[in-house]
Amino acid sequence: MERLTIIGAGSWGSALGKIASDNSHQVIMYDQSEEIVSEINRFHTNKTKLPVGKLNDNVKATTDLKEAIAYSDIILLVVPTSVIRIVLKEINQVITSKKLFVNASKGLEPNTFKRVSEIVTEEINSDYLEGFVALSGPSHAEEVILGMLTLLTSTSPNLSHAQLIQRIFSNQSYFRVYTLADLVGVEICSSLKNIIALASGIIAGLGYGDNTRAALITRGLVEIKRIACKLGADEKTIFGLAGLGDLIVTCTSTHSRNFQAGYKIGSGKNLEQALSEMTMVVEGARSAIAAHQLIARFNIYAPIIETVYDIIYNKFEPKERIIKLMQNDLKEEDL
Ligand SMILES: NC(=O)c1ccc[n+]([C@@H]2O[C@H](COP(=O)([O-])OP(=O)(O)OC[C@H]3O[C@@H](n4cnc5c(N)ncnc54)[C@H](O)[C@@H]3O)[C@@H](O)[C@H]2O)c1
Repeated sequence: MERLTIIGAGSWGSALGKIASDNSHQVIMYDQSEEIVSEINRFHTNKTKLPVGKLNDNVKATTDLKEAIAYSDIILLVVPTSVIRIVLKEINQVITSKKLFVNASKGLEPNTFKRVSEIVTEEINSDYLEGFVALSGPSHAEEVILGMLTLLTSTSPNLSHAQLIQRIFSNQSYFRVYTLADLVGVEICSSLKNIIALASGIIAGLGYGDNTRAALITRGLVEIKRIACKLGADEKTIFGLAGLGDLIVTCTSTHSRNFQAGYKIGSGKNLEQALSEMTMVVEGARSAIAAHQLIARFNIYAPIIETVYDIIYNKFEPKERIIKLMQNDLKEEDL
């Protein structure tokens, strides 16, 4: 039995807490929201973030970061990537022993293009950094909390770290975890797929159908491959659970916050209106800035990602901008 600390008791943090406690591990969840912490401790629910399902009675929550960090040697990061650097700085103030950091958040930092593993290395004193694992794959909290079959990858250059997280989260009834070593590939794929999910929502909001969505997923995957491989990813990772798997679920499921936000934009709302109607984080909007900068820096051809950027930040009219994609030069299908 292991002890786990989960930083961020939102929908995904709560679902991960449920799996770990179902698997007989001891879990403490940290969140800045007193309301969420109190609801988890009193009622074992988290209705704002995760309206369905229930946490196990033994999952505790706290607003005390020092207590949460001291509780275990495994720290799961499940806060929005926009606050990860801030939260890591806070953790670095209270950490007193070596910890394995596991990231389950999905996004890239604008301007620096840093992946979460790189931010952890920058912010956590190396004396206290045991290693880093990315836990990623097609997974909506709403399904996991209800015990629906889900498969993820636990990725680390250090196989024993990846295997430790694989063992903690795997069970024989609903959750299965593979290991992988390609951290760059997994972190890039899991960030970029949210931008394609925004596009998927936009085309759905515009009234396009399944043909369009299938084409978008396929061509979106090619763009993800171009960017990820340029940054050093193993091409095989693109077709794995954290690549194609996560892309499919996030582009096709109404649980996807990125899809939902895209749908609102396709239906005529601007980004600010769409985000103000969401109670959970929409990572694709922020990752689109980082991807737009990356594309320019490395001169990568990624027209779908650029289209999303133009619609949400340059206020292009969605339908016109999508139709413009159809007017690109005719050519061979480059894969
Ligand atoms: N929801 C899912 O199904 C799912 C699945 C896989 C990955 N993810 C990823 O997990 C990450 C979190 O997503 P989510 O859906 O759980 O978001 P969420 O909005 O439900 O929860 C985020 C939580 O972080 C807390 N938080 C925000 N800033 C904080 C701070 N400075 N200090 C402490 N706590 C803070 C919030 O109070 C909230 O409870 C995202 O990167 C998302 O892409 C989500």
